[in-house]
Amino acid sequence: MKNIVILISGRGSNMEAIVRALEAERWPAKVSAVISNRADAAGLQFAAAHAIPTAVVANKDYPSRAEFDAALQATIDAFAPDLVVLAGFMRILTAPFVAHYAGRILNIHPSLLPDFPGLATHRQALAAGVTEHGTTVHFVTAELDHGPLVLQAKIPVFPDDTEESLAARVLVQEHIIYPRAVRLFIEGSLASQQEQLRTDAEAIRPDHIKKDFA
Ligand code: GRF
Repeated sequence: MKNIVILISGRGSNMEAIVRALEAERWPAKVSAVISNRADAAGLQFAAAHAIPTAVVANKDYPSRAEFDAALQATIDAFAPDLVVLAGFMRILTAPFVAHYAGRILNIHPSLLPDFPGLATHRQALAAGVTEHGTTVHFVTAELDHGPLVLQAKIPVFPDDTEESLAARVLVQEHIIYPRAVRLFIEGSLASQQEQLRTDAEAIRPDHIKKDFA
């Protein structure tokens, strides 16, 4: 039985899609906790209604990114996760935090990466005049929205599309591919990518470098 910890900041519809797929398809996994950086995240209510433990680690309570990430890491690790899932978690994470979870942390981003990293992806897509847009599940690495891709889903962009219409159609696809990607991870199908990421993270750890050159 694998442990999944899901991080949210708001609505939590991707978290909900993952929980529903896990329950319906009886994955050999459980969502051990849903953790939010905001106490008012609506998704916390869904988690509680599904008897999933919840926690809030509020970034506003910490003076620096490093201190917030350390508190978040301690809270996550109390649930011994095999996989950490970022589902609309709106915080940039520090490199040591990301390295700690190398090969076992996924994110979903509402664009066809490597196109349109960062915020306002639907606005970026409309401004660029692309005819296809979509969403990407990827492993998280220290560079924002740049880790190895796991799954993508595409949608056509129509002449009368707005940010809102694109967001709505992308979200439908997110609810399909994120549960699928998490299931692939749980089944061990992403193992080679995981191993490479762990090796890379190990190679750049300062204590490792010191050990090698001592
Ligand atoms: C999703 O579009 C996701 O790609 C982005 O934030 C949104 C989160 O939605 N990172 P929800 O909280 O899962 O409903």
